[in-house]
Amino acid sequence: MEEKEISQAVIGRLPRYFRYLGELKDQGIERVSSQELSDIMKVTASQIRQDFNNFGGFGQQGYGYNVEYLFQEIGKILGLDKSHNLIIIGAGNLGQALANYGNFERRGFLFMGIFDKNPLLYGRRIRDREVRPMEDMEEYVKSNHIDIAVLTIPKTEAEAVAQRLVRSGIKGIWNFAHVDLNVPEEVQVENVHLSDSLMKLSYNISSFQKNR
Ligand code: NAI
Repeated sequence: MEEKEISQAVIGRLPRYFRYLGELKDQGIERVSSQELSDIMKVTASQIRQDFNNFGGFGQQGYGYNVEYLFQEIGKILGLDKSHNLIIIGAGNLGQALANYGNFERRGFLFMGIFDKNPLLYGRRIRDREVRPMEDMEEYVKSNHIDIAVLTIPKTEAEAVAQRLVRSGIKGIWNFAHVDLNVPEEVQVENVHLSDSLMKLSYNISSFQKNR
């Protein structure tokens, strides 16, 4: 497939397609039309076709798309055909909650270790991995082929830790700290701010009430 620049908006919609296709696959459904996908996902059929056309259209022939093929292809585009080794930095409330969520593994994100700077936490086991000291982080990243680090530490600490991760060869940072990180372009950062989503909810509640 020819490489072309795909907009972040399209990329942002791919995980949702992937999820729904996974559900159709689990139900044993073999083919789906763009109209049926549209009805399930509440996205217009033309949006779906436009999105898929960015990747050559996925060969819709006769009746709809082949669910298994589409699921596999979108998975490949998302890089889910390979597994990713990840570590969590910050074994507090959020870090532990993420570590305890086993479902990421189903998508190939393997929880390999968790680090903290608080000595009181060293050795505590979280899903069979013990909390390790930050001094061990660089060596661990290198020798265990860690490609993703999850940052669940205070924002004041995040930049310095990110720089250490970059020097260790990390490829991606899933950043929960409320700060924009300065990393070189070969390191990908995905910021997650749950409160942004909550504020959007708040906006929708108030705009619905205003318009009644
Ligand atoms: P917490 O206080 O329970 O845990 C933070 C942990 O990070 C502690 O165990 C602490 O020892 C450790 N830590 C601090 N500096 C460190 C460093 N330099 N290296 C390694 N470990 C270090 O806090 P919680 O509730 O888990 O939140 C963690 C961070 O995530 C906070 O900055 C919070 O604002 C943010 N957060 C972000 C959310 C989001 O949607 N983006 C949602 C919830 C929290």
